[in-house]
Amino acid sequence: MIGVDVTLADLPLRADLVGKSPYGAPQLDVPVRANTNENPYPPSDALVADLAAAVAAAAAALNRYPDRDAVQLREQLADYLSRSTGIELCSANVWAANGSNEILLQLLQAFAGPGRSALGFEPSYSMHPIIASGTRTEWVSCPRRADFGVDVQAAAELVAQHQPDVLFITSPNNPTGGSLPLQDIRTLVRSAPGIVIVDEAYAEFSDRPSAIGLIDQFPSRLVVVRTMSKAFAFAGGRLGYLAAAPAVVDALLLVRLPYHLSALTQAAASAALRHADDTLGSVAHLVAERRRVRESLVGSGFHVVDSDANFLLFGRFHDAEAAWRRYLDAGVLLRDIGIDGYLRATIGIDAENDVLLDVSSRLFQTVWQTVGGSS
Ligand SMILES: Cc1ncc(COP(=O)(O)O)c(C=O)c1O
Repeated sequence: MIGVDVTLADLPLRADLVGKSPYGAPQLDVPVRANTNENPYPPSDALVADLAAAVAAAAAALNRYPDRDAVQLREQLADYLSRSTGIELCSANVWAANGSNEILLQLLQAFAGPGRSALGFEPSYSMHPIIASGTRTEWVSCPRRADFGVDVQAAAELVAQHQPDVLFITSPNNPTGGSLPLQDIRTLVRSAPGIVIVDEAYAEFSDRPSAIGLIDQFPSRLVVVRTMSKAFAFAGGRLGYLAAAPAVVDALLLVRLPYHLSALTQAAASAALRHADDTLGSVAHLVAERRRVRESLVGSGFHVVDSDANFLLFGRFHDAEAAWRRYLDAGVLLRDIGIDGYLRATIGIDAENDVLLDVSSRLFQTVWQTVGGSS
């Protein structure tokens, strides 16, 4: 290997990146992987066959660049959103990229950056401040309440005070799981001077209406970001998208890299969308499992935060880091997101959830672990 003697400190790194930590959910091969909120059910055989055929067809033309604007895929995404929200959207309302992280990056490249700021209610998705930092956007962190909800009146005042160029609203929120009602989102959009990004990565697991229904009221400012990484069981395919006024898409064309979405990704995502009804059939079961796991954890004495997503934040652990290690030793990989006393567990297949519950009830008996308290 060459270059091994050079460390980060030897590089002419941007000063504002010195000392920062990269995103780093551990990728460990353990029996129960419950730390990155994927859908635990693999694609159906029919989808795998359809996708393989579509990718083979795309492969035969790989000497050519892909459709730069991914029009066919955006039409399919618009159809899916129209069907699932009841709001009529067309391809011009939709933009797609390699995961919703890339969508968020493009949004900050277009609407934030040096001299501009973005505000979020934390704890929330850790990539929001990381993408802000990467685009040299000042990050303003507003704390959530002790129960991880957002005090909307206080939040609206903070937003009015800070005047962020971009406001992040994550609903359902990761890592806490709760969502904001539409009227609260409306209040926050009214208080915000700039672009409001509603990150709905987990929308399919929630029965609340999508903020897509508000775009018509705030067409120059509201953007709703979605992903195929969660309910769609397509995390490995890397496909995120947004719904917004067509002018927002025009703005992103100014910053996206040409041909950012490969022909293979477009073909694979199109195939996954053709099987959407089948794939999304797992959502109701995962929601039922979320309820079962929640009740059982509460029954064992844990405090479990209400969740509209495919994960649960639970505790309270005397030492969350030590508890995380104990779960790992028992073959269960949870997420320690740095919230004092809490860990996050993704809902898995039934047998995985059984293991989580079994390990949890055994660990609860050990006094070092929790101070208990159910809610
Ligand atoms: C709230 C939220 N937004 C966006 C993402 C990014 O997902 P992806 O880039 O896989 O679409 C995640 C992933 O965990 C998330 O939790």
